[in-house]
Amino acid sequence: MLGNEKGGSGKSTTAMHLAVALMKNGYRVGTLDLDARQGTFSRYIDNRRSLVEETGLPLPLPEHRRVFRSEAAARAEAEAEEETKLRTALAELGDRDFIVVDTPGSDSHLSRVGHTNADTLITPLNDSFLDIDLLARIDREGRKVLAPSVYSQMVWEQRQRRALSGRPPIDWVVMRNRLGHVDAHNKRDIARLLDQLAKRLGFRVAPGFGERVIFRELFHKGLTLLDLRAERSGAPFSVSHAAARQEVLALLDAIGLSERAEVSL
Ligand SMILES: Nc1ncnc2c1ncn2[C@@H]1O[C@H](COP(=O)(O)OP(=O)(O)OP(=O)(O)O)[C@@H](O)[C@H]1O
Ligand SMILES: [Mg+2]
Repeated sequence: MLGNEKGGSGKSTTAMHLAVALMKNGYRVGTLDLDARQGTFSRYIDNRRSLVEETGLPLPLPEHRRVFRSEAAARAEAEAEEETKLRTALAELGDRDFIVVDTPGSDSHLSRVGHTNADTLITPLNDSFLDIDLLARIDREGRKVLAPSVYSQMVWEQRQRRALSGRPPIDWVVMRNRLGHVDAHNKRDIARLLDQLAKRLGFRVAPGFGERVIFRELFHKGLTLLDLRAERSGAPFSVSHAAARQEVLALLDAIGLSERAEVSL
């Protein structure tokens, strides 16, 4: 499950890369879009399906579901409807080895219930103090953690819920995204803050993805960095793409899914 209430941090992009990485490892993968109105993840998968239909490329496709927010006026009714739809979608994907879930970049009941169901929660974070704000309030000098954010508290609550129902804890992994090559000083400060936060809020920090223009092009084609070696995919493969692939593999490794990655990716 990808979660971060800040928009545009890379949830949908990372969700797609993880889904494809898992499929290339031979796993049966289901994908679920809880941000169905925006629908980035769904459109990414649609683009991939179109590419397969048009070119015949042997690209693996996941079994995909989307859950829309309820239109019901009464809150209790809306929440009950969303929970039923979510349960149904998860049940339909129940025979899959993994379900990769994308969530909206804002708070919603659907997203919260989604988080309760996450075995692993991956939070991509743009590399700036502005984005650290999603996790906690930091003092004005940008050095000390003052209090957890609303999002961190929400994750904590979902963890409590899981504990009460006897389910294993959520493994929370924060990854830095769009890492730039400039401002090493700023980067170091953020790394130090994240380490502090990791201990306080109970997450692990995983290696992230660099800032790369290719991600935008890949979306339209329905491709990921892991597909670029496939013949005739129409996308060029460069040294920079090879480095980017390594970053995806490092993320898989960090979340403990890489045993077979080197063989088949
Ligand atoms: N590492 C990266 N380098 C360059 N561009 C990136 C990178 N990661 C994501 N992007 C781009 O940033 C934009 C936002 O990414 P994405 O849609 O994955 O974020 P999101 O968290 O799902 O956003 P939202 O909260 O709106 O759902 C997209 O145009 C995507 O191509
Ligand atoms: Mg998104």
